[in-house]
Amino acid sequence: MTDRAVEGVAPARGRRIPWWLFAAVLGVAAAIALGSLAVWGTGSEGLVHITRYTARFAFLIFVVVFAAGALAQLFPSATTRWLKRNRRYLGLSFALAHFIHLGALTSFFIAIGEAPDLVTIIGGGGAYVLIALMALTSNDWSVKTLGPKVWRRLHLTGIAYVWLIFMNSYIGRLASETPPEPKVIFAITAGLGILALGLRIAAWIARRRARSQALVR
Ligand code: HEM
Repeated sequence: MTDRAVEGVAPARGRRIPWWLFAAVLGVAAAIALGSLAVWGTGSEGLVHITRYTARFAFLIFVVVFAAGALAQLFPSATTRWLKRNRRYLGLSFALAHFIHLGALTSFFIAIGEAPDLVTIIGGGGAYVLIALMALTSNDWSVKTLGPKVWRRLHLTGIAYVWLIFMNSYIGRLASETPPEPKVIFAITAGLGILALGLRIAAWIARRRARSQALVR
């Protein structure tokens, strides 16, 4: 296994698990739920706001996970190195936060007595299958069993698909004539997603340049 193959996948041997991340996710999700129910009531209005804000919260964690490797490469510092080193746990925190979104949206649909449309079930459901697969394989045993190549392919596909679903929601809301909240919110979230992709592309180009320069030498 080369260093490159295990980069970002490296076993957590001797690494302390930042449990506080998971506690923080549960704390913020509880604050979102209690705040939404207090402001909008315990009916469908309260539940739709929990659904909306839990997605937004999960997205903020997601962009950090999505850009962590690129940030560490392009702007090396103690903070970016910590983000990259703890990408596995940040990814698991995202999965936890996004499964809370699933719980919230399920409660919302039960409360209104409707079902989501088929496109949402297939598109969003597919993302949940990938998030579950990524979470279940975020451990050393899975990396070893699947092999770094297959593991990387799974996680790259999963993270790209989830990015697409987020962007579809946010760009859709930005383009909508009747967005549920001020468009500036969706401009910021869509902008963050595009910025994170830009960072990954810039890091990829820098790696390719460094590799071809090394070959010339
Ligand atoms: C079967 C799967 C899913 C269903 C039925 C669903 C349903 C919902 C509902 C009802 C809302 C609130 C709509 C409103 O604001 O009026 C929402 C918001 C949202 N969901 Fe989900 N969702 C699903 C999966 C996903 C997935 C997989 C993602 C991302 C990867 C996602 C991202 C979002 C985003 C970005 C918002 C908007 C948050 C905001 O306003 O900032 N959802 N979803």
